[in-house]
Amino acid sequence: MANKQSIILGIESSCDDTSIAILKGRKILSNFVANQEIHAEFGGVVPELASRAHQQNIIPVIEKSLKEANCTLLDIDAIAYTRGPGLLGSLLVGSSFAKGLSIGLNKPLVEVNHMKAHILAHFIEDNASTPKFPFLCLTVSGGHTQIVLVKSPLQMEVIGTTIDDAVGEAFDKAAKMMELPYPGGPLIDKYAKLGNPNAFPFKISNMKGYNYSFSGLKTGILYFLRKNKELNPNFIQENMNDICASVQHTIVATLLKKLEKAVTDFDIKEVAIAGGVSANSELRKQLKAKEEDGWTIHLPNFKYCTDNGAMIAMAGQFLFQNGSIGSLENPPNPRMKF
Ligand code: KG4
Ligand code: ZN
Repeated sequence: MANKQSIILGIESSCDDTSIAILKGRKILSNFVANQEIHAEFGGVVPELASRAHQQNIIPVIEKSLKEANCTLLDIDAIAYTRGPGLLGSLLVGSSFAKGLSIGLNKPLVEVNHMKAHILAHFIEDNASTPKFPFLCLTVSGGHTQIVLVKSPLQMEVIGTTIDDAVGEAFDKAAKMMELPYPGGPLIDKYAKLGNPNAFPFKISNMKGYNYSFSGLKTGILYFLRKNKELNPNFIQENMNDICASVQHTIVATLLKKLEKAVTDFDIKEVAIAGGVSANSELRKQLKAKEEDGWTIHLPNFKYCTDNGAMIAMAGQFLFQNGSIGSLENPPNPRMKF
């Protein structure tokens, strides 16, 4: 039976991070993440290599998590896992492992949506603040870009989304064009700190409603770099900081434009960010500055921005408390709907 202090095992394997966390109530007892460095040399995640690496990582990761939490598998009340969205081969490793544990231990299985879990990570105890309902969440990752109206832990509605590339993808592709390794988002963030954001103007897209588009920016950067490299083969190396600052400035301005519209139209000033790109320092800084306009901003703890098992355990806790138990027969769902 679920109670407020239930212990949840959270398993995340949707992309290239293998992570397992143990949560008691809303407190994280352990949260281990094994990153897969193998993809850097290929400039992006190679699905076949990702699923093989999950296979190798999953046992050492659960062993470390149990040890750190000072738990055994018998202490666990429910097993939460990422059912989707994500890469099928990667999801299969985590979901099969979760189902094996569920059968072996005779413990309930909880199916978690990865994107909702990014948002629910805000409810883990060791964040600086906790959003109040209803709030708007800008969910920005390598696979998604959404503005979500969050009415309760289990009632969420996507009001805006990207019509093409995700914002993390835009960061990573821009970085690749600048010959930076994958994932380039954090590197753009790092170099941008030393550059001039107004050095090179790029176009801010303006889609219908609360939607986003980043493919035009990608093409814009490609032509811009090509043209300047013809004039100066060392253009990128000589202007790295300014290019990164300009690209980041454009991306953040694009994200804020629609978020501002949503805040006005819905008259909700309680705002959160979630997903890997929510680690971006400029996005965090500009959002925090919106507190001067009366917004209340919730920035997740850095360790809960990029993919992690803790957020899966937290989402699993809400579902478990609600009696939403999964089925062994449900396959992983790479295109799982919100
Ligand atoms: O949520 P996440 O870990 O995985 C997905 O579910 O996609 O997000 C990964 C994305 C990558 O595109 C990565 O480049 C981006 O988050 N990212 C950043 C930063 N840290 C991670 N992008 C910009 N600035 C950062 N500091
Ligand atoms: Zn993610």
